[in-house]
Amino acid sequence: MVDKATRTAFVCQQCGHTTPRWHGQCPSCSTWESLVEEAVREPKRRSGAARAAGGGPKPRPLSAVPSQDSIRRSTGLDELDRVLGGGLVQGSVTLVGGDPGIGKSTLTLQACSALARRGHGVLYVAGEESPQQVRLRADRLGLGDAEVMILPETGAEAVIDQLEALRPAAVVVDSIQTLHTAALGSAPGSVGQVRESAALLTTHAKATGTACILVGHVTKEGSLAGPRVLEHLVDTVLYFEGDGSHALRVLRAVKNRFGSTNEVGVFEMGERGLAEVRNPSAAFLAERPVDAPGSAVLATLEGSRPVLVEIQALVARSGLAMPRRTAIGVDAGRVALLLAVLEKRRRMQLHDQDVFLNVAGGLRVDEPAADLAVVAAVASSVRGRPLPAHTVLWGEVGLTGEVRSVARAEDRAREAARQGFRRCVLPVGNARGLRPVDGLELTGVAALDALFEALDLG
Ligand code: TYD
Ligand code: MG
Repeated sequence: MVDKATRTAFVCQQCGHTTPRWHGQCPSCSTWESLVEEAVREPKRRSGAARAAGGGPKPRPLSAVPSQDSIRRSTGLDELDRVLGGGLVQGSVTLVGGDPGIGKSTLTLQACSALARRGHGVLYVAGEESPQQVRLRADRLGLGDAEVMILPETGAEAVIDQLEALRPAAVVVDSIQTLHTAALGSAPGSVGQVRESAALLTTHAKATGTACILVGHVTKEGSLAGPRVLEHLVDTVLYFEGDGSHALRVLRAVKNRFGSTNEVGVFEMGERGLAEVRNPSAAFLAERPVDAPGSAVLATLEGSRPVLVEIQALVARSGLAMPRRTAIGVDAGRVALLLAVLEKRRRMQLHDQDVFLNVAGGLRVDEPAADLAVVAAVASSVRGRPLPAHTVLWGEVGLTGEVRSVARAEDRAREAARQGFRRCVLPVGNARGLRPVDGLELTGVAALDALFEALDLG
């Protein structure tokens, strides 16, 4: 534990230069506002004798290390367990980041009470809300009677003291930005404070086996004092995403020392908190208009799972000298590239048109496999003609208009069939290697011309 006598220094986050006093500009590399207060830990000196005796761990063959599955506990939410890699690992530190209001407190409180129901000790450290407010939320979630211990505290040392006394199986700190340590003079919420407090909790988690969940807000600017500065410190980083105006929420692992990254869990925010969505494809396609131009169904991969989502495009004459290009849920640079390919290879006039793209349901799609659906949605909107019904698309589009294969075609096709679709338009390379899927017609396309023909877009 860090006591009040700990020395602190200001360290430049760009070049590592250390000074005893704060400067607005780093004296070494001249970066502005880059100095952050940090606690200085004096390196422990060991006497020559101790070094000769060889204190500390010795190297040993990797094969001699007992392989033991980490001890995991179910959080009671299958979707959360999945993203964690199969449950909450003892002694692990997990960061749950996301926009304010997205549902982080709701998610962690639900997990807390499920753990408590299973007889595990759980401590919920409320730095943002009063215990009454948390109780109110718990009642609303129907969890008012759960045996969760609650602690309104913002001092990191005091939290550690309580953890020492309670030794719970898990602790939630909501949020890490409210925590501060007496070791530093800087204000709560500053980079130094957030990092130092998290470091204290991490050390405690590793020493005692208490699983630690840190809640962190991400601000619009990507946040300097936010969760980003903690990513290297913790074992697992989960981001809770979604469009505030939609009920669907996606929990994504961006780092996981105990499981695969890019695993996602899908939830729906309702009257009684977050409910797991067992059939994400159906949820994302629920409000899809049938027979509307500009709507295409994409089979994408969300972590290990194939998911069907709707890509919407609206292309309309622009009154602006510089037409608008808006992409929500897909990469704007990628969209610009695809529009250029359409102009060049298909002579489609887009330079005087506004183009809006949206992934329905607030999902983010980050793989090139979305290209074919983006192109199809744009073309469908331009022509004012709906795409053939019951058709799912995927595939990457290259600069010459060629259509390239992508990974896991069979999983995508099976998901399409499971959701009742009857036809897939896919890269020819994928179609060749694919075993037939029941009731599914496969149309392989090698280039944009073939795509337009397959979709009857002329
Ligand atoms: P919250 O968990 O407080 O978000 P965060 O901790 O990420 O800031 O959730 C806030 C939103 O969720 C709030 O707008 C209300 C909504 N909500 C529901 O719709 N249903 C519920 O049962 C609960 C508890 C919250
Ligand atoms: Mg909250």
